Amino acid sequence: MKVLSLLLTLVTGISALPNPLPQDPAPTPGVKTPPPLPLSTSSRWILDANNKRVKLRCINWAGHLETNIPEGLHRQPLDYITTWIATQNFNCVRLTFSSDLTFSGPTTPVHTSFTTVSQQQSKPALINDIYPLIITKNPWITPNTTTLDVFAAVVDTLWSKGIITILDNHVSKASWCCNLTDGNGWWDTASGYNPFNSRFFSTSSWLSSLAFMATWAKSHPGVVGLGLRNELRAFLLQDLNGRRDWYANIQRAGNLVHQANKDLLILVGGAQSSTDLVHLKTRMLDTSGWEGKNVWEMHAYSFTVTFPDPFKNCDLVKAGYGFWSGFVLEQDRPYTGPLIMSEFGVGMQGSEVDSQYGGLNEQDHRYLDCLVGYLEGNDAEWAVWAIQGGYYIREGTVDYDETWGLMDREWKGWRNERFRQKIQGLYAVTQGP
Ligand SMILES: *[C@@H]1O[C@H](CO)[C@@H](O)[C@H](O)[C@H]1NC(C)=O
Ligand SMILES: *[C@@H]1O[C@H](CO)[C@@H](O)[C@H](O)[C@H]1NC(C)=O
Repeated sequence: MKVLSLLLTLVTGISALPNPLPQDPAPTPGVKTPPPLPLSTSSRWILDANNKRVKLRCINWAGHLETNIPEGLHRQPLDYITTWIATQNFNCVRLTFSSDLTFSGPTTPVHTSFTTVSQQQSKPALINDIYPLIITKNPWITPNTTTLDVFAAVVDTLWSKGIITILDNHVSKASWCCNLTDGNGWWDTASGYNPFNSRFFSTSSWLSSLAFMATWAKSHPGVVGLGLRNELRAFLLQDLNGRRDWYANIQRAGNLVHQANKDLLILVGGAQSSTDLVHLKTRMLDTSGWEGKNVWEMHAYSFTVTFPDPFKNCDLVKAGYGFWSGFVLEQDRPYTGPLIMSEFGVGMQGSEVDSQYGGLNEQDHRYLDCLVGYLEGNDAEWAVWAIQGGYYIREGTVDYDETWGLMDREWKGWRNERFRQKIQGLYAVTQGP
């Protein structure tokens, strides 16, 4: 109980931040007024170029799977998807990419990418059925358009509608993420190497990839930030050295990105799949190389092991959020900084309790209400997982239907209207510097 009350105190401390601000004005459908850039940080806030708070309300958009192009262009024109994002009052996209993209992307036409993945996975439908849909829906993709050109088009079109982008280095080898054997989890040069978790995660390629994308972002003004790596996770004998590898590699990457592009926010996630920043309490990461740009990341799903809910008790779960990551929002600490809940989400199709919980299952319903309450309480930044109603190919399945997608399979609109209502409370800006 002692531990419990300590945790609750922590959470309460985080929530008790004054200065309510008025809500944002009603959005103009389709176009938003972007904040003056570049963005920077002060205490736990993200500020625009006029030192006014910017609250990140992002939606994740996957671009890190095998084909190395953002999903959905086989279903709707880019213009349609980006307008939907703006109309739904998101102001930001967290766009995931693989390190592979940065090496192949500048020279690989979309057509070549689809052909190659089709052959590698023996899935002719990918090139025969899906690719033609892409060029029908998005005729601006010509035989010469490279995969990196598509990223550019996505980012620039979003920006034309006032939507900013945070790039996220999601995996090294382009593929579905994240388990402990996909080879993308922890640096290959770190102590305790094992091939299951690290065979694709070349530290040097990762650094090159980050520097490349940071430089690339200079010619794409809508890009405001770069996430250094999604869901770092150690396995077997890794990370048994007091997080030494985490500190060393994150610091190197942060410095490198900042040297390449001084405008970008730099997003840093903790260990244990972006759920654990606890080590900062005893040793702050040296972020002096990117002062005024550091943003912490946190992920939380209903199945996240660091936030158990054995007693179906939301206060306990919130205490867990605060203990593992949320504490970074406390003012005047060495580690104080903005925190973005950069992944959370649920399956949109609950089964047995469908009618009671509006198409969410009971566990997801409880998890979501608790998490939304937590984020409302501390007015943190967020990025919901995820827009994609499906994938060109995922885990060997062509035209994979994503039941966690906010958009339906046709990428027309909300898959589950109740979910939209449940996250409405997250949009308000209630606190400020
Ligand atoms: C593609 O590139 C080639 C060589 O640069 C050029 O001749 C051709 O016109 C281009 N095709 C399209 C559709 O842009
Ligand atoms: C882990 O992920 C990889 C890459 O997506 C996949 O090939 C593999 O089957 C997954 N392993 C398990 C146990 O799910």
